Formats: sequence, structure tokens, C-alpha cells
Amino acid sequence: MEPDVKEQLDKILSQYTGESGELIPILQEAQERFGYLPGEVMQKIAKFLQLPQSTVYGVSTFYAQFKLTPTGKRIVKVCRGTACHVRGGARILREVEKKLGIKPGETTDDREYTLETVACIGACALAPTMVVDKETQRKMTPKKVTELFSDRGKAE
Ligand code: FES
Repeated sequence: MEPDVKEQLDKILSQYTGESGELIPILQEAQERFGYLPGEVMQKIAKFLQLPQSTVYGVSTFYAQFKLTPTGKRIVKVCRGTACHVRGGARILREVEKKLGIKPGETTDDREYTLETVACIGACALAPTMVVDKETQRKMTPKKVTELFSDRGKAE
């Protein structure tokens, strides 16, 4: 573990008493700090709470909020809900995949973008939709995808 990571994790753990019920808040805080949950961080959390590593790993994989791999600086979420699907959502997803050169759940090599899909973002009347950096993009078209990711022109 890098000294820097160790120091930051120790700081987080110092606020807790080591009871097993503290697992989720610790994981949340660690993820907020590191952007995801590195294996070595989960190991140390398991040790601190005197829990088997499999328990910590199991909880981290059970909840969608926890990420076990590094994410990009910008999170892109494409809606896969019914309203978006009937209005061409699948095509939008294909365009985004092509532009970024990644599939849902993946991050670009330069760690700039992570692509995810969501069940509905609650803007069905404006389908198909997607979210980039928490900003909802409405009535998407392949052309709008190209404009949004104009900096990724060469990524295939
Ligand atoms: S189904 Fe896409 S916003 Fe609701």
C-alpha cells in the first residue's frame, strides 16, 4: 500500500471504533476518498473490523454504489429504460460506446470517462436521455453524441 493511501485510510479508520456495523460507512468514506475500493484498502478495513475479507468483498459487490475498479473523471450514464429504448436508446448507447471505445462498466485507458447504463433517469418525456457529469442530456441523437464527445473523435 502506498504511504499516501495508508495515511489517508488510517485517518478515516481513526474516526471509528472497529465494530462490524461500521463497515458500510467506512466503505462509503473510503470510496469517496479514493474514487473506488482498491483491494488493499478492503483488506485493511477487514482487519480493522475483524471481519473475514470475503465479508467485506461480498458487501462491496452487493451494493451497486461501491466500485471495485477505478472510475474515470467523467461518468457517462446512458438510459436503458423502456421509454428511452422505444425512442432509439440502444442506438445512442452504441454511438457512445463507439465514441469512447468502451462498453458499459468500463473506463477509458486515460481514465477520462466511465460508461454506465441506468434503468431510468426520470426524464422519460424527453427520451432518449443520458447523463454526463450529472447533467441530463435530453432527446439524444447520434449527432448530439458526436458533439458531446467531440474531443474523442479518434477513440474507436
Ligand atoms: S426510461 Fe429513460 S428516462 Fe425514463
